[in-house]
Amino acid sequence: MVRLENLTKEYDLPPIKGRPAAVVAADRLNLTIADGEIFGFVGPNGAGKTTTLKMICGLLVPTSGSVEVNGIDVERRPEDAQQFLGYLADFFSLYDDLKVWEYLDYFAHAYKMPAAEIPARVTEVIAWVGLESKRDAFIQGLSRGMKQRLGIARAVLHDPPVLVLDEPAAGLDPKARVELKDLLKNLNRQGKTVLISSHVLSDLEEICTSVAILEKGHLLRAGKLANVMQEAAAPSRRRIRIRVAALGDQLLGWLSARDGVSDAHPAAGVASGSSAVDFLFSGNDADLAALVRDLVMSGAPVFAVEGSSESFEQIYARLSGGEVM
Ligand SMILES: Nc1ncnc2c1ncn2[C@@H]1O[C@H](COP(=O)(O)OP(=O)(O)OP(=O)(O)O)[C@@H](O)[C@H]1O
Ligand SMILES: [Mg+2]
Repeated sequence: MVRLENLTKEYDLPPIKGRPAAVVAADRLNLTIADGEIFGFVGPNGAGKTTTLKMICGLLVPTSGSVEVNGIDVERRPEDAQQFLGYLADFFSLYDDLKVWEYLDYFAHAYKMPAAEIPARVTEVIAWVGLESKRDAFIQGLSRGMKQRLGIARAVLHDPPVLVLDEPAAGLDPKARVELKDLLKNLNRQGKTVLISSHVLSDLEEICTSVAILEKGHLLRAGKLANVMQEAAAPSRRRIRIRVAALGDQLLGWLSARDGVSDAHPAAGVASGSSAVDFLFSGNDADLAALVRDLVMSGAPVFAVEGSSESFEQIYARLSGGEVM
């Protein structure tokens, strides 16, 4: 279990006009990450993801607040906590002129693993990340996705129960992203708790059990993915599209004047030959039925009504736009 309590990081900046300046990269974050989760940290550039993950791993000292990993206070006992943690930085360097197995062997020795166990362990992690065919290849000849796998292999070498991966999908093509997701799901099935950051939301939506949405150091939302989406999507407010055979001048005005309707506008990207309007609707199904009935009675040539639930990406965009539901 990983627990963040009022975790805060302020970075000092160069003084502005002689006055001390600082940026709050993590602002009193409270989170509990249960064993067995794939926990996603989501947020735009500068949200505080890297800062938070580094504090979790004991690589950055918090300004205030604390992190506990398996009951161990990371700031007080970083080395003990790190036994439980495997970390992959957002930017990491590999030694180009080493072979894949040599690189892992080197780190296994650096981690002071028992020498007799190292060869078998290296073989095992190479298999875990699917690099068997590259075992004897030089690192400089690996693709970006393979290098990312090698980084993950290094992070799991000492068999930590918790993996902390900062933007592991950055720079990967769609196929490599899918492979990375499969790898993480596999590691998770083998019992690893995975903390992962990304601003590619579709990546996280597919694999995460829980997410925390960060912005400018603040925690906007956190919890089980389904709950975060459900809560944020506010079922009483949904996006509705009404398709009409012809878009009359009055339709938008009619809709906008109606209770519960907001943001009515002609739909973009609708196939030519028909028209559609999109709007946000607060109300239940009966309210929507009444609206459609009245619209048809008014003479609008309605031929379809569609409701869409928002994707995580849309919810996120709305939340981080500062709109409070
Ligand atoms: N060493 C530092 N000194 C000063 N400010 C820093 C330092 N590292 C980060 N920051 C600031 O802290 C804030 C959070 O940065 P952080 O790197 O944690 O964000 P991030 O969510 O990981 O962003 P990205 O998606 O770009 O990786 C930013 O405003 C950044 O400028
Ligand atoms: Mg970062």
